[in-house]
Formats: sequence, structure tokens, C-alpha cells
Amino acid sequence: MATITVLDKVFEPYIPHEKILEAVRRMAKELERDLADKNPLFLVILNGAFMFAGDLFKELHFPAEISFIKFVSYSGTHSTGNVRQLIGLDEDVAGRTVVLVEDIVDTGISMEKVLEYLSDKKIKDLRIATLLFKPNSYKKHFKIDYIGIEIPNDFIIGYGLDYNGQARNLKDIYKIVQ
Ligand code: IMP
Ligand code: MG
Repeated sequence: MATITVLDKVFEPYIPHEKILEAVRRMAKELERDLADKNPLFLVILNGAFMFAGDLFKELHFPAEISFIKFVSYSGTHSTGNVRQLIGLDEDVAGRTVVLVEDIVDTGISMEKVLEYLSDKKIKDLRIATLLFKPNSYKKHFKIDYIGIEIPNDFIIGYGLDYNGQARNLKDIYKIVQ
């Protein structure tokens, strides 16, 4: 199998594009089954989930909206150092059905931060859809409603996922060669 080199690391083909799309289509059907009459708002967590979100949204054949949120870090003026803030939520989500769209849930720390941020927004029904999930790494307890593919703890790139900003453009997913 053809390996690729990204910066200083070597990766091998892992999940081909067609298998990713199969998982995406299955997730779209599950979402349709549950939310077809709810006009859900899909909140995509940038940057990694942009490609998954685009393919998923094309497979949804019911009324739905999409918007994008992102964590940004800035150096705090206090000694606490870096502060992370969620930006981009300009919709009124009170009383709505919201689906968080993530590329991968690993430890769950990032998603928990998003959930904390949204906790006072009076969302009626908040669900989580992640393309990839690393069950052996997961340390949290919140429910993940829609999962595309479960994977072991290997570091992967492609289909939106990056290594130091690189490789998000790959159609297939690759895993690191140990
Ligand atoms: P968590 O906070 O540990 O769940 O990690 C979630 C975030 O870490 C994801 O949104 C990704 O940006 C990044 N991440 C986790 N695992 C990988 C990986 O295997 N490749 C690339 N990025 C990853
Ligand atoms: Mg991400």
C-alpha cells in the first residue's frame, strides 16, 4: 500500500473515501429517522468537521439549517495563560433541536467544552454526531447520539483531520505508521 509523508511523519491508507461515505449515508438516515420534522440546526465544529459536514448535509433530505462554530485561543491578560473561547454562534438556539457535528471524539475533552458553552442556551434537544470515535481513549460520560466509525487509538489524518494544519484535503483517511 502506498504510504504518504506529511511533514516529518509517514502515514498509510486506512479508511477509503467510499467507506467514509457509506458511514455518512447511514448517519444521514438515522438523523432523518429521528429529526425529519424538527428543522434541526446543525452546528459544525471547525476546522476538522468541515468536510464531513458538507457530505452529511448533502445527504439530508428534510428541512435543516447549518452553521459553524469554532474555538479560538488567545493569550489572556491574566497569569492563567491561554484562554479558549467559542465563536460563531449567532443563531438563537433557544427552544431548538441542535446537532453538534464533529470530525472525531477522542478523549471527549473538546466536546465537553462545547457542551459547557451551550449549557445555558436553553436548547430543547441537543444531539452529537461524530464521524469518528476512539472508544478506548474516551474519558467522559456524555452520550454520543450518532457515530460513523469507531477506531482504535491511532493518530489519523485526512478528510478534514490534520497533522499540524496539513492533510485536511485528502479524500481518504490515513493512519500513522508506528
Ligand atoms: P478530544 O478533545 O481528545 O476528544 O479531541 C478532539 C479533537 O482532537 C478533535 O476535534 C481533533 O481536532 C483532534 N484529534 C483527536 N484525534 C485526532 C487524530 O487522530 N487526528 C487528528 N486530530 C485528532
Ligand atoms: Mg475537531
